[in-house]
Amino acid sequence: MTANSPFRILQVGLGNRGRMWAEIIAAREDVALSGIVDVDPARLEPIRAQYPDTPLFTDMTAALEASTSDAVLLVTPPDGHLAQARQIFAAGLPLLAEKPLTLDLVEAVEIVQAARQAGLPIAVGLNFRYLAVSRMVRELVRTEELGMPGFGQFTYQRNRDGRAPRLNKYPLTMQHPMMLEQSIHHLDLIRFCYDREVETVSCRTWNPAWSMYAHDSNVSCLLTLEDGLEVNYLGTWTGGWNELQFEWRTDCDQGIIIQRQLFDDLAMARTQDAALRPVALEPCTPFYDDSSALLTAFINHVREGTPLECSGEDHLRTLALCFAAIESSESGKAVSMAEFFTRFGIDSGT
Ligand SMILES: NC(=O)c1ccc[n+]([C@@H]2O[C@H](COP(=O)([O-])OP(=O)(O)OC[C@H]3O[C@@H](n4cnc5c(N)ncnc54)[C@H](O)[C@@H]3O)[C@@H](O)[C@H]2O)c1
Repeated sequence: MTANSPFRILQVGLGNRGRMWAEIIAAREDVALSGIVDVDPARLEPIRAQYPDTPLFTDMTAALEASTSDAVLLVTPPDGHLAQARQIFAAGLPLLAEKPLTLDLVEAVEIVQAARQAGLPIAVGLNFRYLAVSRMVRELVRTEELGMPGFGQFTYQRNRDGRAPRLNKYPLTMQHPMMLEQSIHHLDLIRFCYDREVETVSCRTWNPAWSMYAHDSNVSCLLTLEDGLEVNYLGTWTGGWNELQFEWRTDCDQGIIIQRQLFDDLAMARTQDAALRPVALEPCTPFYDDSSALLTAFINHVREGTPLECSGEDHLRTLALCFAAIESSESGKAVSMAEFFTRFGIDSGT
């Protein structure tokens, strides 16, 4: 591999998210698909004409043997990730895995340790960190444009039709679908945009009576972050209205920062202002531009050793937060993240 030759990616998994990833990669000249794997031939057939030069496989072992790749992109459901990651590291390849890394925290720690032992990079697909709006919230907080952030309120209310043909089906039957498939992104953004670790979490998860999900599709958390920043989080996939409502407001000692749409619409006001002022953002196509930027950061790390923002180690802290929140909901008690990290052998990052 030279710096100018395309970076060759073996993509494993071609479902809802995998089709997006294949499009993102195919649109780039500096990246090439060395192969696409899906255990379901019916997923591969429709793309044969679209990707005539890409070898297609129904088995990852065969694909690892038959193709020459610089990294693997894993877009399979999370319950198979540990076995797949072990095979990928045994083949000597860096890994970019979709979130959540696993549905079991001990397994996630094992994957990150396996990468470390193999001396190979591992990154996790927290693409929303790369949305223009997320970068801007982080910047406004970092520069203290409106002073010290004191508290935040993050609400994501959606009535997600998990039976819709375009969506994956396993969230309908898994444990904690909201926390592990969706809130994981939000809790990660809270850590990332505030650039602070969570110190304590109190949480309640539950499933509304009319839910189509077998397990809890509502999450409510109170998070205490470093510097005493308090965040109130509510997320639902089972709202009483089909229109998605999103708002993330951060109150600082000299004003507020407010994001009013899921992927854009950022505004701010100083304490005495009568109206909000919009904050200009670079254009950004959600899921595509942010994922492409995440991929660039991963490639730069593999090729040039630049810092890896969405590293496996970093992801363990977000995943641990999800599991600490679940523990809090089950015990009815607040959970200290320092104690939780020690219990699972996770670096606290502070
Ligand atoms: N970051 C994001 O914005 C985002 C968005 C959607 C989904 N995701 C994540 O992407 C992952 C996949 O989600 P999805 O919606 O594509 O699910 P999906 O169920 O639509 O697709 C998964 C695909 O993996 C294939 N597969 C299963 N086991 C395999 C194996 N051992 N080898 C090869 N292929 C295998 C299945 O046949 C299926 O085609 C999940 O972890 C999900 O959380 C992330």
